[in-house]
Amino acid sequence: MRVLGIETSCDDTAAAIYDERLGLVAHKTYSQVIVHQEYGGVVPELAARDHIRKLLPLIKAVLRETGGQPHNIDAVAYTAGPGLVGALLVGAALGRSLAWSWQVPALGIHHMEGHLLAPMLEPNPPAFPFVALLVSGGHTLLADVCGLGRYIVLGESVDDAVGEAFDKVAKLLGLDYPGGPAIAKVAGQGRPGRFRFPRPMTDRPGLDFSFSGLKTHAMNTARSFDLDGQTVSDIARAFQEAAVDTLVLKSRRALEQTGKARLVAAGGVSANTLLQQRLEDMVRQLGAEVYFPRPEFCTDNAAMIAYTGWKRMQSGQTEELAFTVRPRWSIDELPSMQITV
Ligand code: KG4
Ligand code: ZN
Repeated sequence: MRVLGIETSCDDTAAAIYDERLGLVAHKTYSQVIVHQEYGGVVPELAARDHIRKLLPLIKAVLRETGGQPHNIDAVAYTAGPGLVGALLVGAALGRSLAWSWQVPALGIHHMEGHLLAPMLEPNPPAFPFVALLVSGGHTLLADVCGLGRYIVLGESVDDAVGEAFDKVAKLLGLDYPGGPAIAKVAGQGRPGRFRFPRPMTDRPGLDFSFSGLKTHAMNTARSFDLDGQTVSDIARAFQEAAVDTLVLKSRRALEQTGKARLVAAGGVSANTLLQQRLEDMVRQLGAEVYFPRPEFCTDNAAMIAYTGWKRMQSGQTEELAFTVRPRWSIDELPSMQITV
């Protein structure tokens, strides 16, 4: 089986082809950063319009790259949520239409399940069960992952997602969008010890997160100083340290609480080098293991959507021709898949 995957939930347009026998055979992502940069964040209407312009050429490109004709595609998987509704509709409408004209099935995929399964595309994929730390621009959550489609949310952010906090603090510091990589870059020049920011919700039990207090603390600090280059770096460093510490502490707690020996970290923020290093140190102390997608599959991509689509097709899932997208969608509402990786 060969699955075409489509991703348009936010500001990346992506297409990929996953082959059951050969694995991932093509993938392409077009980042809309240029479109949104001057606004310091994603403008939903502009995102949807740009997806319309870029999606079909990207699909043609991945088809060309595999030397394939549309008749080689056996199914289409597109991101159906959560995400920006106008952006989701572009991928859903095109994905469904192509599937209809090629007379193959189409499935709407949960974007966060895609992130969760992204490490399965790597040469050394994690075995079930594991704990997943999903950290993106819209979500921060810890899940107990018993098998494919069997996810129990252990904790999530009660306010801002961690990626959103990175983006907002970066904007205030005058750094480029997206804020995560920009903060990570300047934090390297930050001096340790100049500022120490709070680690929110770490002094009480539980696995929920809150990042708006940390964001406000960073913003108040930024307003109290002249924002010269060194101060920007010092604030970025203190913010990144606090955010990473919080994620590592809660991940450790989730591993201990569930007795799991494997951790998967995925989603845009999991590309953060400091986070990866600190998670590796933490799991080593516990005698556990941590798995990440390759950097380009930490952030939004269609490879993870094609793979998840293949798994759901394999488990026998089907959908009617009529489609819907879901801007809000909890990962623990997904049906379990009665198959293995
Ligand atoms: O998963 P993703 O590409 O899109 C969503 O599903 O939201 O995640 C995007 C988020 C943005 O907030 C971006 O600033 C953050 O991931 N991000 C990072 C890094 N790379 C991307 N945050 C921290 N460090 C990074 N290196
Ligand atoms: Zn994402």
